Amino acid sequence: MTQILQPQPIFLKDYQSPDYLIPRVNLEFNLDSEQTIVRSNLSLKRNQNTPENAPLVLNGGDKLLLVEVKLNGLKLEPNNYKITESNLIIPDVPQAFTLEITTKINPAANQSGSGLYQSNGNFCTQMEPEGFRRVTFFLDRPDVMSIYTTKIIGDKNTLPILLSNGNLSAEGDLEGGLHYATWQDPFPKPCYLFALVAGNLGVVRDSFVTKSGREIAIAIYVDPGNETRCQHAINSLKKAMKWDEDVFNLEYDLDQFMIVAVNDFNAGAMENKGLNIFNASLVLADPQTATDDNFLRIESVVAHEFFHNWTGNRVTCRDWFQLTLKEGLTVFRDQLFSADLNSPAVQRIHEAKFIKIVQFAEDSGPNSHPIRPQSYIEINNFYTSTVYDKGSEVIRMIQTLIGPKLFAAGIAKYFELYDGQAVTTEDFLNAMHLASGLDFTQFQRWYDQAGTPICAVELVFDQEQATCELIVEQSCPPTPGQEEKLPFYFPLSIGLLAPDGSEIPLVLSNQSLGTTTNLVIKEQKQRFLWTEVKEKPVPSLLRNFSAPVKLQYDYTLEELLHLLSYDTDLVTRYEAAQRLTHQAISSLENDSEVAVDVEKIVTAFAGLIGDSSLDAAFRAEVLTMPPLSAIVESMNPIDYERADRGREALITILAKGTYETLVKTFGELLPSLEGAYSIQPEVMGKRALKNTILGYLTRIDQDFFDLTFSQLVKATNMTDEYAALRILVNYESEKTQEGLRLWQEKWHDEPLVMNKWFQAQASSRLASVSMVTVLANNPYFDKYNPNKLRVLYRSFASNPLAFHKVNGEGYQLIANKMIEIDSYNSNIAANLATCFYQYQKLDSVRKELMRNNLTRIVNSEGISPGVYEIISKTLGDK
Ligand code: TRP
Ligand code: ZN
Repeated sequence: MTQILQPQPIFLKDYQSPDYLIPRVNLEFNLDSEQTIVRSNLSLKRNQNTPENAPLVLNGGDKLLLVEVKLNGLKLEPNNYKITESNLIIPDVPQAFTLEITTKINPAANQSGSGLYQSNGNFCTQMEPEGFRRVTFFLDRPDVMSIYTTKIIGDKNTLPILLSNGNLSAEGDLEGGLHYATWQDPFPKPCYLFALVAGNLGVVRDSFVTKSGREIAIAIYVDPGNETRCQHAINSLKKAMKWDEDVFNLEYDLDQFMIVAVNDFNAGAMENKGLNIFNASLVLADPQTATDDNFLRIESVVAHEFFHNWTGNRVTCRDWFQLTLKEGLTVFRDQLFSADLNSPAVQRIHEAKFIKIVQFAEDSGPNSHPIRPQSYIEINNFYTSTVYDKGSEVIRMIQTLIGPKLFAAGIAKYFELYDGQAVTTEDFLNAMHLASGLDFTQFQRWYDQAGTPICAVELVFDQEQATCELIVEQSCPPTPGQEEKLPFYFPLSIGLLAPDGSEIPLVLSNQSLGTTTNLVIKEQKQRFLWTEVKEKPVPSLLRNFSAPVKLQYDYTLEELLHLLSYDTDLVTRYEAAQRLTHQAISSLENDSEVAVDVEKIVTAFAGLIGDSSLDAAFRAEVLTMPPLSAIVESMNPIDYERADRGREALITILAKGTYETLVKTFGELLPSLEGAYSIQPEVMGKRALKNTILGYLTRIDQDFFDLTFSQLVKATNMTDEYAALRILVNYESEKTQEGLRLWQEKWHDEPLVMNKWFQAQASSRLASVSMVTVLANNPYFDKYNPNKLRVLYRSFASNPLAFHKVNGEGYQLIANKMIEIDSYNSNIAANLATCFYQYQKLDSVRKELMRNNLTRIVNSEGISPGVYEIISKTLGDK
C-alpha cells in the first residue's frame, strides 16, 4: 500500500532499562478548561550503566505545548534542547539534576479519553498506558517509579473537590476565588498510576478496619444526585478488602481509598493508586436502573481495581509487554472472589463461555497474539481478552498444577521478592517455582506461543481386561508469525461415568485417584490406562474448564445425553448441552453427515428445565443457545444466514417441544420472584431462568408476547424491564415501537439506562444501517461519549446478520464511523476496527466488499497507528 510513513512496531527483545530515573516528582496543576498550566518539578539521576554522554529523552512531542524548561534552575534556550514529533531531547545533562517543565494543555478539547480531559465539566485523567505524556514531558514507561506530590489549583465554586493519589497534606483558599489541595503519595509508582480529579461531585463515605486495626476512610465521588446509587459499590469494595486479607493476607496500605465515577471513560475502570476512576456504568446501581448482570459486574470490577493495589501497583510491570503480569493475575483474583461470593459453578460456566466465544475467536483471527506479545505498534491494542482472560486462565492452571496452598505461598514469595519493583512474567514464574519446586520451563510456552491448543482425546475400552485407555494428543494451529508450536504443559481434569450414571473410581497404575483427577499433559501424545473399569464409560473431559484448550472427542448423541443427565461437574454438563445444540443446529441445516435425532434433545432439555433440584442459573445457561459467532466457527467460508436458520429452527423446535414444561416452570418461578428485589444468587438465577423462558414462549404464543409487553411496562426492576425490551426488539410490531417510545419517555434523563435502549436495538434481529443512522441522530446520543459509541456502533458491528448484510452497507457504515471517530478518539476507533476480524473467512462477495473498505481505511489520511495496526493485520499485509 502507499502509506508513506508506516508506523513501526517496537519489540520486547529490544527492551533496555531507562537511561535516567526520576525518584521524585512535584506537580502543580492550574486548572482551566482551555488553558491548564502544568508545572512539573523533577529530580532526575543517571541510571547505573548509562554512558555519561547519554542524552535525556523524554516522551511528549510537538503536540504538547512547552512553555518553559529549566535545568537546575536555569532556563534552557531552544538551542539547548530539541523537540521532535514524540520527544523532548536534552543532549547535555549532569549525573543528578532537577528539571522544571511548564506545559500548557487544553482539557476541554481533549476527546480522546487519555491524558487530562473533561467529562460533564469535571476534570479527570486516564494515564494508562501512555497518557501522562499528553500532560507533561516525562519518562512515560512503567519501570520509572517516583514519589509524587501534587498540588491542584482551581476555581472554588465550580471545582469544590480536588483529588489526587495518596493522602491530603494541605488545602486552603487562594485569591481570585481559587483554592488548592496538595496530595502526597508515599509509595513509588509509575506515571501510569497517577490520577487527578477536580469537579463538583457528591460523595458517599464509609470505612473499613483492616486486620491490623487501621481504619481506612472510603469515599465514592459521583455526580450530585447519584449518591443513592453507590451502596452496592461500597459493599463490594468492603467485601473485596476483607477477602484479600483472608485469602492472600494482603492488607490495604494507604489511609484512604477513593473511587470516582465519570461518564466519559474509554475502558471499564482504572486502578490509580488510592484514587480509582471508574466508568459510571460500573459504579452506579439501584434496582430500578441496573440489571442483575450490572450488579455482578460492578462487584467484580470494584474488586478487580482494588486487587490491583497489590497486583499491579505495589508490584508493577517492567514494560507493557508484561501487561498480563498484572491483568491476568488480577482477573484471576477477581474471578476467585466472585466464585466465593456467588455460585462457583455458574461463575465458572460464564468464564469458560467467554473464553470460548471471545478469546478463542481472537486467537484464531488476524490479531492473534500470545498473552505476552513480542511486538506491538500501539499498546492500547493489547488490552485484549487474550492478555486479560487467557492470562487469567494461565494463572489458574498454575494454581491447579501446584494446588491453592502452594499458590498462596507463591503469591507471598512474589511480594517478598518484588515489592516496590517493576518486574516481568518470568519473575512471577520464578516466585511460583521457589514456592512449589515445579519447573516452569515448558509452562513458559503459554506466555510466548499464540493460538488455541487442540486437545484430542480417544477412548479404548477393553472389556476382558476391564481397562480403559485414554489417548491424549495435543496440537496447535499456526498463527500469524508463528508457524510451528511446541507442546504445551497443562492440567486436563477428567472423570469417567458408568452406564448407570455413577462416577467410576479412577485407578491408574494401582493408584486410586478419586472420581475426578488432573492429568498432566506435556507431550504431543500421551496414554493413560485406567484399570478396574468394568463397563464402557462415558468420559467427562476438561472438567471445570481446566485449561484454555479446544477439547475434541467424538461423542455420540447418547453419550452427550448421558453427560447431560449425570455429570457431577456442572461445567462439563453445560458443555454437553452446548455440543448437543451445535449438533442439532448443523443437522437441521443438513450440515452434518448424520442426521441428529432432535426429538431426543428436546426431551432431555425438557427434563432439565423442569428439574428444580438444579440451580436456576444453570438451567438458564443450558437454555441459552450459542451465539452465531460460535456456530460459524467451524464453517469455511462462513455462512451466517445458514447458521441463523439452524439456530432459529432449533429454538422454535425447543419452544414447541418443551412448551408444557416451560409454561409450568415459568408459573412456578413467578411467585418466588414477587416481593422486594434481592440480589441473592439464587434469586438472580430464578430471574434469569424466568426471562429466558419468556423469550422462548414469546416466539410461539401471542399471550406471552403480550405478557412481555406488560412486563416492560410494569416492571419494578431493570432486570425484568430490560429483559422484556431485549425480547420485544426482535419483533416487528406496534407494541415494540410503543415499548421503545415509553422507554425513552421514562428514561431519557438517565444516560446509563438509555445506553441499554441503544444497545438492545443495535443488537436486535431487526437492526439495519438505516436504524443505526436514526439512532445516531437521537437527541440522547452523544458521539463523544465512549459508552454511547460502544452501545451503538460496537453492538451493531457485533450483530452478524446486520453487519455482514450482503450489500456491504454495514461494512461501509462502520468504516466511515471508524475514520470519523479516529480523528478524536483513536482508542475507540481501534476497538471498532477489530470487528472486521472475520475478513479472511468470508465468502468471496463479502470479502471483496470488506476489502474495499479496509483498504480505504488504511489509505485514509492521518489514520492513527492503532487503527493502522489492526486493519493492516486484518488485511494480512503485516
Ligand atoms: N488497567 C485497567 C484495568 O483495570 C484498564 C484500563 C483502564 C485501560 N483505562 C484504560 C486500558 C485505558 C487502556 C486504556 O484493567
Ligand atoms: Zn486490570
